[in-house]
Amino acid sequence: MIGSTGTALTAVVASVLDAPTRGELRVRHEALVTVDQAGIIVSVLDPSDSEYEQLRDRFARNGHLTELEEGQFLLPGLIDLHNHAPQWPQLGKALDVPLEVWLNRYTFPLEAKYADLGFAGEVYESLVDSMIGNGTTTAVYFATTHLPATKLLVDLCIEKGQRALVGKVAMDDPDGCPDFYRDESAATAIAATAELIDYVESHPGNRDGLVLPAITPRFIPSCTDELMAGLGELATHSSAHIQTHCSESDWAHSYGVSRFGQTDTATYRDFGLLTSKTVLAHSNFVNAQDLAMIADAGAAVAHCPLSNVYFANAVFPTRDAFAADVHIGLGTDVSGGPGPSVFSAAASAVAASRVREDGVDPIVTADERGVPDSRISFAEAFWMATTGGGEALRLPIGVLSPGYSFDAIAIDTAVPETDLNIWPDIDSSLDVLQKIINNTVRRNVSRVWIQGVLVKSPSR
Ligand code: GUN
Ligand code: FE
Repeated sequence: MIGSTGTALTAVVASVLDAPTRGELRVRHEALVTVDQAGIIVSVLDPSDSEYEQLRDRFARNGHLTELEEGQFLLPGLIDLHNHAPQWPQLGKALDVPLEVWLNRYTFPLEAKYADLGFAGEVYESLVDSMIGNGTTTAVYFATTHLPATKLLVDLCIEKGQRALVGKVAMDDPDGCPDFYRDESAATAIAATAELIDYVESHPGNRDGLVLPAITPRFIPSCTDELMAGLGELATHSSAHIQTHCSESDWAHSYGVSRFGQTDTATYRDFGLLTSKTVLAHSNFVNAQDLAMIADAGAAVAHCPLSNVYFANAVFPTRDAFAADVHIGLGTDVSGGPGPSVFSAAASAVAASRVREDGVDPIVTADERGVPDSRISFAEAFWMATTGGGEALRLPIGVLSPGYSFDAIAIDTAVPETDLNIWPDIDSSLDVLQKIINNTVRRNVSRVWIQGVLVKSPSR
């Protein structure tokens, strides 16, 4: 899994915060992170290491050393496991109705507009800039049913240097999709998905695999059996990832159960869509058997806590997923979630877990109000936003250790007009992490590297 290491070419000196182990924050002060020509981390040295001074001086003399200043921290880049690129124009609005109404009233009409490549280019350019600007180094994108616009999203991610998984949305069921927005047939949807995989894998600008294809059945209510079976078949013949929505809301979950007499997880498994490269968005209504099935398959859940507040009718059992050893990371679910930041998703994951633990109705006595032992810590949320996301995708990202890609962000707590303030004498490293998760905004993300390439630089 981990890439091979070569000779270091550039280096960064910084206070490094990452979370290779769930629930534990790792802190390395004045660490020297060296990176090779392919963008892979070669070494992370501590000032007490014998080679440290000499190496640091050499990189500095050659002009290849970036030194973060007091108040700046180096973190792994954020991983957004679930993001609907075409919904970017409706970010922050249209959240006043249930999922099934939202899809038909707002979302399908918006997504239908991506037949227009000019519109698609304008939106996707703005979206990718915002994701990078907010520190998302890897995004897992649903596009739309349109192959040309989906290819354009691939091109833009490659051009801007964003690591991404991109899927052409497949949705063909006339009973679940409007006439103005659906694939002509299962066969055309499967053929277009195969063409996208080929396009991404043979793209001349994508030799190092920065962008990867994803097989993307939208969700069970929008897909015929024929489509799901065909995409499952395609998955067995390709190395592409798979992404879909699973047991998201009362309505979506009960639709799947009434159509197939079993949970969405079981249905995806039966269609060959539950593999070690599958990302299941939401999955709020998964039961213990589903979690075991997901863990057995080595599949992953994209937990989208803020979107779930609007659409899920329940709070995802994050701690149960941890206990079942399910791969799990975070998703913004742009635009079911109203913001672009994975830090916000992490903060919401903590808050949602507290709501689950404590319950909601003051009339109910405290001992019966919530679900005991549901809370997660900020360190666990940070792990999901980084390491957990990397493990979910089976990519060497999310951790700042040798062999991993140098996908990293610098958080600057000293930018003008910041609300992210650190008092070094009273804030512990865990305090700093908690503040970063809760109060980082785009201007605090001063640098972003993806595969060793600096794709965002300080504006001051
Ligand atoms: N289920 C099917 N499509 C969607 C979507 O676009 N967003 C969310 N949150 N759920 C879905
Ligand atoms: Fe979604």
